[in-house]
Amino acid sequence: MIDVKPVTIGPATLYNADALAILPTLSGLDALLCDPPYSSGGQFRSDRVLDTRKKYIQSGSAGQSLPDFSGDNRDQRAFEYWAALWSAAALRACKLGAVGMFFTDWRQLPASTDYMQSGGWIWRGIVPWCKPDARPQLGRFTAQCEYVIWGSAGPMAVDAAAETIPGFYECTAPRDRVHVTQKPVALMRELLRVVRPGALVLDPFMGSGTTGVAAMQTGRRFVGIELDPVHFERACERINDAHRQGALFDHADTAREQKRLTLE
Ligand SMILES: C[S@@+](CC[C@H](N)C(=O)[O-])C[C@H]1O[C@@H](n2cnc3c(N)ncnc32)[C@H](O)[C@@H]1O
Repeated sequence: MIDVKPVTIGPATLYNADALAILPTLSGLDALLCDPPYSSGGQFRSDRVLDTRKKYIQSGSAGQSLPDFSGDNRDQRAFEYWAALWSAAALRACKLGAVGMFFTDWRQLPASTDYMQSGGWIWRGIVPWCKPDARPQLGRFTAQCEYVIWGSAGPMAVDAAAETIPGFYECTAPRDRVHVTQKPVALMRELLRVVRPGALVLDPFMGSGTTGVAAMQTGRRFVGIELDPVHFERACERINDAHRQGALFDHADTAREQKRLTLE
């Protein structure tokens, strides 16, 4: 029996704990939007076990003073095995038809489509996130995309009233970040369009809480888990600020929801 008291901030419930300990206690989720440690960042095993600031931040940049984060140094087999465990536990906490979204990079793309299917998710596609300001490489293709693999917990109902959603996003990574691999809030808001307002969204590796901020801004409910106390504290602060500001981006959502309700 685990004994971790969550922090509650409006419609957000936040756990400072290991995702594998909390996931079996959750239920009723409408979506999983997660950005797990990639265990990537190099060609060789020696690159992979480096501090996350060395792996993911350009040398000399201000980001190198940010705190390191946990769980990013598994070898390939351990990464896939661990990720299959938590993705299966997350699936069990989801409602039938819930949407799963999993961030990854080019190196871990094949491992990630494997682990999410091993966890029981139906793989439905890949949404590239293109960063126009990525560092160009002489005579080589610039590695300027990360990817959101998406799928569902069993069959997905067709919603005739739903809007269409793009399958590709272009935006820069946040400049004033507080986490080494912080994602843009605007990107997370866009991804949350796949579930209705009021939906319950889980991010079991929330880092600085970006998914939670997007959930607060768009009127979704949120469950977040983060292992490192320093990142957890920052997530609580950011989600609290977003909650106090209220839902900012709900006009289209409200219209869509009204349309859906009228048709039912
Ligand atoms: C890629 S980062 C997420 C960054 C986040 N999307 C943001 O915008 O700030 C992954 C996070 O997962 C956390 N983590 C690693 N292992 C974990 C575990 N077993 N349970 C919960 N959190 C974990 C790390 O500390 C790290 O902050």
